[in-house]
Amino acid sequence: MRCVVTGAAGFIGSHLCEELLRRGHTVVGVDCFTPYYSPVLKSHNQAVVLAHPRYHFSSADLRSDPLDAIVEEADVVFHVAALPGMQKSWTDFDSYWTCNVQATQRLLEAVRRASGQLRRFVLASTSSVYGKLALGNESSQPRPISPYGVTKLAAEHLAQAYAEAFGIPLVTLRYFSVYGPRQRPDMAFSTFIRAILRGEQIEIFGDGQQIRGSTYVGDCIDATIASIDAPIGETYNVGGGESATVLEIIRKLEVLSGRTVEVVHKPALLGDQRQTFAESQKIRSHIGWQPKTRLDAGLARQWQWQAAMDAELSETSTSVVRSPTIGTHPVSVLS
Ligand SMILES: NC(=O)c1ccc[n+]([C@@H]2O[C@H](COP(=O)([O-])OP(=O)(O)OC[C@H]3O[C@@H](n4cnc5c(N)ncnc54)[C@H](O)[C@@H]3O)[C@@H](O)[C@H]2O)c1
Repeated sequence: MRCVVTGAAGFIGSHLCEELLRRGHTVVGVDCFTPYYSPVLKSHNQAVVLAHPRYHFSSADLRSDPLDAIVEEADVVFHVAALPGMQKSWTDFDSYWTCNVQATQRLLEAVRRASGQLRRFVLASTSSVYGKLALGNESSQPRPISPYGVTKLAAEHLAQAYAEAFGIPLVTLRYFSVYGPRQRPDMAFSTFIRAILRGEQIEIFGDGQQIRGSTYVGDCIDATIASIDAPIGETYNVGGGESATVLEIIRKLEVLSGRTVEVVHKPALLGDQRQTFAESQKIRSHIGWQPKTRLDAGLARQWQWQAAMDAELSETSTSVVRSPTIGTHPVSVLS
């Protein structure tokens, strides 16, 4: 199949491209390297697929570049691109609005103009649409508490409107806190590991008792690819592995690293969710997906990857000027 993956250089998008190629598909990756985090990391993410003969990269910005030719021959479009993260969405709403809503609308427009062989349009959404407590199943009332969550919910509604009006074969996936190798540098596990590697204190926002049901990236990718066979029009929670408080995660990282960590508490962040844990019965019964990776195993893989990456980047502290395509991927992430 010919698969279009938006957000191809990002954390989740790059794993998705890699696994689709491994399964024999042709992949058109789209990304404009938004400056939310270092383009050097995004280039590293993409390095593993860039030379693959069935991978074609388009450096298009979904907000402004022509998209018709990109989606014209697609069998599946995975719309993974977005501006993530809650905190910056309070101060840079324009970027969230344009990357998460306007970009989605432009992609949907291009898809509806395309020739019509599309089998699925898979939309990557988030547990953040639920709000403070992201518990329960997909019928829970969405009540986002951050501008990020609002824009992601708007994208869901927009896609549903296009699906209803033009028959776009939509499936929506609400990911719950994804972690593993290549995790975005602003995400909690990533910041904790970085602090430990550098011998710094770990800053925790709030009391550290926030509960997260985290999803290993390999499991997230399996669910995303399996959703090609999901009934059209459905929305699924993707998560439901193991949950742990933020403090418990830090204890696990202490064990992994063999180091003792100094924790400093800061005031809770605006829009931070108190508890997230996916009830994922629906996706399990519809397409047989369930998370397989235990938290300890997934954390160990992220630790191993990040330690190697940190060493590589600090070895070449001039990393911004080195070729961004020569990074290697030290661990297998989809086992
Ligand atoms: N990481 C998580 O835990 C998590 C949880 C829930 C939902 N999600 C969703 O999963 C998706 C991927 O998240 P991620 O963590 O991989 O983020 P990421 O920032 O690593 O990847 C997103 C990619 O999209 C690209 N992008 C953004 N706007 C674009 C535009 N206008 N044109 C072209 N490319 C653009 C960025 O450059 C980036 O490479 C997002 O839709 C996010 O909302 C992620």
